[in-house]
Amino acid sequence: MSQPTFPAMRMRRARSAPWIRAMLAEHILSPADLIWPLFIAEGRDGEEPIATLPGVSRWTVDRLADRAREARDLGIPCIALFPNTPPHLRSERGEEAQNPDNLMCRAIRAIKDAVPEVGVLTDVALDPYTAHGHDGLTDAAGDVLNDETTEQLVGQALVQAEAGADIVAPSDMMDGRVAAIRAALEAGNHRNVAIMSYAAKYASAFYGPFRDAVGSRGLLKGDKRGYQMDPANGAEAIREVALDLAEGADMVMVKPGLPYLDVLARVKDHFNVPTFAYAVSGEYAMIEAAAAAGAGDRDALILETLMSFKRAGASGVLTYHARDAARLMAG
Ligand code: PBG
Repeated sequence: MSQPTFPAMRMRRARSAPWIRAMLAEHILSPADLIWPLFIAEGRDGEEPIATLPGVSRWTVDRLADRAREARDLGIPCIALFPNTPPHLRSERGEEAQNPDNLMCRAIRAIKDAVPEVGVLTDVALDPYTAHGHDGLTDAAGDVLNDETTEQLVGQALVQAEAGADIVAPSDMMDGRVAAIRAALEAGNHRNVAIMSYAAKYASAFYGPFRDAVGSRGLLKGDKRGYQMDPANGAEAIREVALDLAEGADMVMVKPGLPYLDVLARVKDHFNVPTFAYAVSGEYAMIEAAAAAGAGDRDALILETLMSFKRAGASGVLTYHARDAARLMAG
């Protein structure tokens, strides 16, 4: 399409007043775009701040329901849960992940009892439960075993579904785990439990504060490059997503967020399925540090960043800024 040139066309006309900017906005942010990740702590009536994630805390189960109520009242449709498992319950094989009374399952039940209308998304991976901090079982050389890990993940997803999880989200990057989890959910009569797969999850330097939050940072032996994707690869994300969709994923995720907006846009354009971005802990910390240093306005940085995900095609964003952002959107 050819368009007239200056002065017949003045692009600034469309930006000349708030009403016309509002009218011509291609994307609108809404609290319904947000998923709020929350960390769970053992104990009662407790809030544990996380030093590398200023403003984010771990909450004890009895105080989590209040967070879910806040989410509901702000119009945030879904929360994501991550447990900080006490060290004595971590083991080589991460058996605690399949304990139906583990911290995660108790948290799911508490939230579903108190605020059933808020969706609960649970992480499926062994790293909060293993003594070595990897997402799966390791062999003698320390490599993560694929098929043996998948069996454990299936058990983990099932106890979460039994406890009331609405969406299980495998974040481990084992091959074939989506199909295995889908089959087990189907067989277990959990037909409406959805799967959001961390389909394109990169071996990223932006996960540091999260590993503090779930207590795995000091434990991690080596790195996760044997299972998480190489940041050099974009086309490979298309193959990862295609496999997860074929295996029965209801929605897919690209993670991290901002440094991988190109991947998000490619995935959305290619498949046109519900595609989520995870603005990970290091991204949150980066914005907080920039704002604290006076490098930018915090509220504006948060909203502009979230808008970039929408523009790239995201159906929604997992973000530690969810509560603040929803408040900002409410005005
Ligand atoms: C682990 C998991 C990680 C995150 C979510 N699930 C970290 C990792 O892979 O080491 C990162 C989230 C964040 O940094 O906010 N299964």
